[in-house]
Amino acid sequence: MCGIVGYKGKREAYKIILDSLKTLEYRGYDSWGVAVIGNPSISVVKEVGMISDADSLINNTKITKGTTGVGHTRWATHGNVTEANSHPHLSTDGKIAVVHNGIIENYQSLRGELKKKGYVFKSDTDSEVIPYLIEDFLKSETGISFEDAFRKTLYLLEGTYAIVAIDKDSETMLCVRKDSPIVIGVGDGEYFIASDAPAFIEHTKNVIFLENDELVAFNGDMKIIDLVTGKKLSKKPQVIDWDVEQAKKGEFKHYMLKEISEQKETINKAIHQDNKVIQDIADAINESYGTFFIASGSSYHAALSASYTFSRIAKKHINVVDASEFPNYEHFLTPQTLMITVSQSGETADVLDAVKVAKKKGVKIISIVNVMGSSLMRNSNYSLLMNVGPEICVLSTKSYTSQLSILTLLAYASVGKLDEGKALLKCVANHVGELTDPKVLLDTVEVASYLKDKEHLYVIGRGQSYPTALEAALKIKEVSYIHAEGFAGGSLKHGPIALIEKGTPCIVFAPNDETKKEVLSNAMEIKSRGGYIIGVSDMDNEIFDYFIKVPDVGHASPICDIIPIQVLSYYLAILRGCNPDRPRNLAKSVTVK
Ligand code: F6R
Repeated sequence: MCGIVGYKGKREAYKIILDSLKTLEYRGYDSWGVAVIGNPSISVVKEVGMISDADSLINNTKITKGTTGVGHTRWATHGNVTEANSHPHLSTDGKIAVVHNGIIENYQSLRGELKKKGYVFKSDTDSEVIPYLIEDFLKSETGISFEDAFRKTLYLLEGTYAIVAIDKDSETMLCVRKDSPIVIGVGDGEYFIASDAPAFIEHTKNVIFLENDELVAFNGDMKIIDLVTGKKLSKKPQVIDWDVEQAKKGEFKHYMLKEISEQKETINKAIHQDNKVIQDIADAINESYGTFFIASGSSYHAALSASYTFSRIAKKHINVVDASEFPNYEHFLTPQTLMITVSQSGETADVLDAVKVAKKKGVKIISIVNVMGSSLMRNSNYSLLMNVGPEICVLSTKSYTSQLSILTLLAYASVGKLDEGKALLKCVANHVGELTDPKVLLDTVEVASYLKDKEHLYVIGRGQSYPTALEAALKIKEVSYIHAEGFAGGSLKHGPIALIEKGTPCIVFAPNDETKKEVLSNAMEIKSRGGYIIGVSDMDNEIFDYFIKVPDVGHASPICDIIPIQVLSYYLAILRGCNPDRPRNLAKSVTVK
């Protein structure tokens, strides 16, 4: 969580940093701040709230002109959402500014030591110790450079961090990473640092991905040092294949609607994945002595859905575990086990932790990931890139259906039917194009208007539609704040049916498969108790009070079925006055456990 940026070059830093922070806002939007090296000192601006609301600050008079600066957009962990707790944090003499993403676990003891030396803390954050420690080394060791003071500070820190620090005296910018993301953009005589590449792809697509414990110093040129060996490293930039336009809203009012609308294209990208790569992963599944799919949130729902596809098509059992629960499974791992992690960001702390646990047992890790150079990619034996472009809205939409598509291909490939899988997905992509047609999207406003004032909503599905029900409920609750719960249709009478009263809305997934008859019976049980049934099916039914038509695409139905609910969630957010791109309390990359 939190987005950090740095800039050192020949242009005015403030404007570039503000624009970069706006792109990174999905990583946290409690508050933001920028610091620029100017004359006679570093100038700082901090605000509580979203940076996207800060257009009036472009010509901020508090910020002096300068070509080196840092910025931060915060998702609060330590300390309330206040201006004082916002980054950048300055040294007491105002000569050093620091932005940090991650958690300094031993900050309390470091704070205690610094307090004894007379340092007075202005914030409740763990991060404020960093500029004070650097300052303390600079003051107490004669002749020490900013870089060495920074390095000595790092040796004292425990936890996770991506840090960018600037120093007024030497006009130097430094950055480092340890288990928190950071990438470097190399421009023409200018350097960009960011938590994620979309922050600077407008300026350069040449990207250097850092490994843990690599420190980079920018002062005229760029020097990369391995903190463990002390050796200078030479790293060549890689060209990132993301389009500037993909990171912009274009004609859409929100990224959420834009990304929902991109799904025909992103499913087509899945179809065009390299056949050999898909086949190799499918073979690895077949050869493994037990395969685990590990993921969090929507990615977990995609993995769970795929386990049904594997069961149906390949008669193969896949263990699907929520990443945060995976450490409990370590006793069942052997070097013959295969772990497939599924993650859009590749930075989800729970997933990375699961990988650590599995690696200790010699498990082979394959990841399906969207963000190139992410921690997950670097920690896997093999990675398959989803190629859906940046997903900026905090909610997962196009990445969810891309994950479903890729996993469906793997299931078909595992029984030697990759071509059949690809043909099915081509058909899905065409139907998704129809479901996301702007005119069809607007149809959903009607049912959204009916639901917008409801307090509770339930979603049911059976078999392969059960994970779809979980995902549908997650989409609705996280963006509209309506309490929504997904259940397996069969589990209703074991408790949840007690919640149904007159008018309680219930979304029922009733695809044309073996679950249809039984899920319609469950819908009838709800209706008999006064529930209002919204049927998502290929065919209308008299039980439905409202009908949402979706195509019958066999084993790939979950891909089409979720789309009207993504759209419904979007309009529920709009009608309830919520920001669909920035739901409260959430952040796109969940880098804390
Ligand atoms: C929901 C959502 C989250 C993510 C989850 C995992 O819309 O976006 O539930 O799916 O935080 O994130 P990744 O896929 O980046 O590991």
